Amino acid sequence: DPARPDAGVYRMELVSGVRVWVVAGYDRARAALADPRLSKDVTGLTRIMTGHLAAIGADTELSGMYSPHMLFQDGVEHTRLRGLVSTEFTRARVDALRPRVAGIVAGLLDPLPVDEPVDLVDALAYPLPIRVICDLLGVPDADQDRLRGLTEALMDDDNARNVPASRELHGYFTDLFAARRAEPGPDLLSALLDPANADRLTPDELMATVFLLFVAGHETSTNLIGNAIRWLLEDPDRWRALGADPGLAPRALEEVLRFDSPVRMSTHRFTAEPVEYGGITIPAGEIVMVWLHDSSRDGSRFTDADQFDPDRRDAAAHLGFGHGPHYCLGAPLGRMEALAALTHLARHHPHARLAVPGGDLVRQQSAIMNGYRALPVVLGPRV
Ligand code: HEM
Repeated sequence: DPARPDAGVYRMELVSGVRVWVVAGYDRARAALADPRLSKDVTGLTRIMTGHLAAIGADTELSGMYSPHMLFQDGVEHTRLRGLVSTEFTRARVDALRPRVAGIVAGLLDPLPVDEPVDLVDALAYPLPIRVICDLLGVPDADQDRLRGLTEALMDDDNARNVPASRELHGYFTDLFAARRAEPGPDLLSALLDPANADRLTPDELMATVFLLFVAGHETSTNLIGNAIRWLLEDPDRWRALGADPGLAPRALEEVLRFDSPVRMSTHRFTAEPVEYGGITIPAGEIVMVWLHDSSRDGSRFTDADQFDPDRRDAAAHLGFGHGPHYCLGAPLGRMEALAALTHLARHHPHARLAVPGGDLVRQQSAIMNGYRALPVVLGPRV
């Protein structure tokens, strides 16, 4: 049963015809995320995935996510590619973006009606991270709606939707690179395209890196914001306390990452050699996914693990941002975006409430992502 964190090590069908191994349970998951015998090398992953697709007679073209960026590299190659952009995502850099992000949040929320339900996924959780990453990368505002549709399709589990979207996104970025080369700006993309950097990144690596940065921070942050609003609105007293004291928000957010993590499982890894966990041997050449969501609900690691407790002291030990060398590069940025959204909402809308019972909200249909399709909320009087 994939929903059980103690289910250990087992096989499941990820998408039709693609069988993968799942590693679950807090200790095992944490160990697997840092285990060098589980490779993320893009060449190996591509070979295995196309093999799976060919075996079921499906189109073997993979989406642009299977490209040579840091998330699909091991060892020194990983370190090199991560090092090229990591300075852009440090806490200090993220702090400098805070006023701009607060402005985007206010611009999205303040015009909304307060006495009828508004969908806060559509109105806030989705557009906020796109605007932030587009700003960082130097994507013009006018293109953001088009990119939104493409990314949505790209994240679909279905190859028939994500492959065409990935081709179109590739074309879009090719044009954008040309535009930024001709007219550089103060953005990350212009910095990566700078001739001084040219020998550090091949054209394929550049495309892959931009692709990764663009998609990695969207739906993940959207789900973090949405899941946070959903759980924190459950308790009206708690919500008002948060509005009065924004200092409560960081700990509450870690609990959201633990209790209802925006990413259900890690991205793909594969066994470079047979690997044994808890008495079960996964043969070489198998795809392994690490269960993040329910591993953070493991009762052997967290007391009352199935209770949402925004004051929990050790929530930050969750695996919501992964662990080990591929620990989320965007964690400071994702946290800051979510805190900006939450604190603005709680402060200015202390009487906000879910327009339908939390249990009736419709979840996304995705094996990897974990969030809500829509989040109808009545904001209540603005203060
Ligand atoms: C990696 C989650 C936001 C960029 C990861 C991983 C997780 C994760 C679980 C590890 C995947 C694995 O090991 O298989 C999240 C969550 C976010 C978030 C829950 C919600 C706020 C962002 C943002 C960015 C970003 C805003 C910035 C653009 C990345 C990158 C990696 C990564 C570049 C790959 C790091 C590497 O391979 O070294 N993220 N992420 N993420 N994330 Fe995030």
